Amino acid sequence: MVSANDVKQVLVVGAGTMGHGIAEVFAIAGYNVFLADVNRQILDSAMDKIRWSLSKLAEKGQLKESVDSVMSRITAVISVNPDGSFSNDLAAVASQADMMIEAITEKLDAKQALFRFVDQHRKGKIIMATNTSSLPITEIASATSSPELVVGMHFFNPPPLMPLIEIIKGERTSDDVVQSVVDLAKRIGKQPVVVNKDVPGFIVNRILARFLNTACWLVAKGRASVLEVDSTVRFSLGFPMGAFELADYSGIDVFYLIAVAMTQRGFKQTPCPLFEQMYKANTLGMKTGKGFYEYP
Ligand code: CAA
Repeated sequence: MVSANDVKQVLVVGAGTMGHGIAEVFAIAGYNVFLADVNRQILDSAMDKIRWSLSKLAEKGQLKESVDSVMSRITAVISVNPDGSFSNDLAAVASQADMMIEAITEKLDAKQALFRFVDQHRKGKIIMATNTSSLPITEIASATSSPELVVGMHFFNPPPLMPLIEIIKGERTSDDVVQSVVDLAKRIGKQPVVVNKDVPGFIVNRILARFLNTACWLVAKGRASVLEVDSTVRFSLGFPMGAFELADYSGIDVFYLIAVAMTQRGFKQTPCPLFEQMYKANTLGMKTGKGFYEYP
């Protein structure tokens, strides 16, 4: 079966906010990483962000080797052809990798298509992990021929700094795969928490969804301003960021899609309309320069 000792080459698909941070964390820990995304521009931007983050860690004496030497373990790969089909390059790296971590958009059909493809090209019994924030692992795994190899490995933003990883067992994930991912999480210096119930949102996002939704309704109903809510969260509750700072930081699209996925699967809450409006207006927070705050 797949053991953490067998993992040397890691394929990370999706080079956005989470994917590039996950690639960085594995590269720092000595793994060879293929980082795949749909175009060169996204990959170049991801590599720049990784280099920036590594330089920050080096400045603080938190990197055991040079930035260049960590960067040399990351290979960028274009994952799709111009017609949208998966590329031969992705097939080639999928057939070399000992483990895949998917960190693409929070949409079930897109994730299932990717898992189906990797499942067809994998070299054998590799770990197929998803960084999904809210979708049940069991639903993603149903697209593969080996759901026992599919597991949730949920990192937090920014992956190089946040210690927690939720490891989620789907209905058919094997105990060996869960144990291997626990071992891997420790090897990359993280604190794993195993989530045995594959419920939408797992543990953190079930709490966070209520927190952000409540904060959002306070503003939507005119009971408090964005700044008032964030000041109380930061300076009284002791969180490192306010609710709206966090939404802007990780992406309003991310939290909106999490809320949609969870609500569709029976999570009871009345979604605050501001998130949907901002999602549709493409005001997604830091990444678009405007969210609840502005980022000139
Ligand atoms: N890599 C390396 N260094 C980084 C970095 C990164 N990715 N991001 C920030 N830093 C550095 C900053 O440059 C700064 O360096 P200097 O001291 O040299 O200036 C230092 O870290 C501190 O950063 P900041 O001054 O910007 O601010 P901070 O002290 O508030 O720390 C933070 C930043 C660690 C992000 C902190 O604000 C924090 O923990 N915020 C909460 C994050 C959180 O809750 N994440 C989970 C989101 S939910 C999620 O991800 C899951 C999901 O499913 C959606």
